[in-house]
Amino acid sequence: MGQDIQGKVAYITGAGSGIGRATALQLAKESVNVGLIARTESKLKEVAKEAESLGVKASVAVADIANMDEANQAIDHLQHELGSADILINNAGIGLHGSFLETDPKDWKHTFEVNVFGTYHITRAVLPQMIEKDQGDIINISSSNGLKGTAGSTAYSASKFAVQGMTEALMQEVRRHNIRVFTLNPSLVATELAFGDKLDEQDQEKFMQPEDLAEYMVSQLKLHPRIFIKQSLQWATNPF
Ligand SMILES: NC(=O)c1ccc[n+]([C@@H]2O[C@H](COP(=O)([O-])OP(=O)(O)OC[C@H]3O[C@@H](n4cnc5c(N)ncnc54)[C@H](OP(=O)(O)O)[C@@H]3O)[C@@H](O)[C@H]2O)c1
Repeated sequence: MGQDIQGKVAYITGAGSGIGRATALQLAKESVNVGLIARTESKLKEVAKEAESLGVKASVAVADIANMDEANQAIDHLQHELGSADILINNAGIGLHGSFLETDPKDWKHTFEVNVFGTYHITRAVLPQMIEKDQGDIINISSSNGLKGTAGSTAYSASKFAVQGMTEALMQEVRRHNIRVFTLNPSLVATELAFGDKLDEQDQEKFMQPEDLAEYMVSQLKLHPRIFIKQSLQWATNPF
């Protein structure tokens, strides 16, 4: 009853590591061709190689998504290499933790430039492709911090709340084009962003894994296009 995603084209931001990498590889396992965006070329190339070994086409676009020109160039490149996008995963993001007054204003602002404006730049570049096809899926990775603020995360929480608002409004705007726009709001996931190198391998196993989220995303994408879960919270069982 759902839809077949085999042969579709997905662009994934922040695809060099963590949740983005796991999602790109999970999509490749489902025979989806993948366009990979981030700033570190070497990591993207490794993911592309792994995806290609699963039998799909993979293309790499190096860009800082906070910069609109770089974001536009990345999307032009991926469209040229793979064709227009059926799926966009706005996953790239940075964390910032520290007290409100002690946080450097530049860092506070930069969190918005990546998490909010980066998502805006990439979506703005991809959306016309989806409107033209009269179909598409845009998944924005927000956070449990985008639903509930926690002490020491004003910039991160505010940026992820902004992603929620942008997602909800855009969803209302483009639903008539058969485009589904929705957020995922994970709590702690065992990645570099959340833990740096502080976790040993044994501890890592206790936390939600990037692969868990990737599988969840694929299950959402396979739903019949007439239905979608517009907001969901992914919570790990108590890892402590
Ligand atoms: N891990 C968690 O507990 C957790 C929980 C809730 C939500 N999230 C969200 O999940 C998303 C992925 O996080 P993750 O945990 O997988 O983190 P991660 O392992 O640090 O991966 C982040 C990815 O984003 C890319 N990136 C960062 N800044 C960028 C920029 N300016 N332009 C382009 N790419 C950029 C990074 O690559 P480069 O550095 O090479 O550019 C990297 O590929 C983020 O939006 C995060 O807020 C994470």
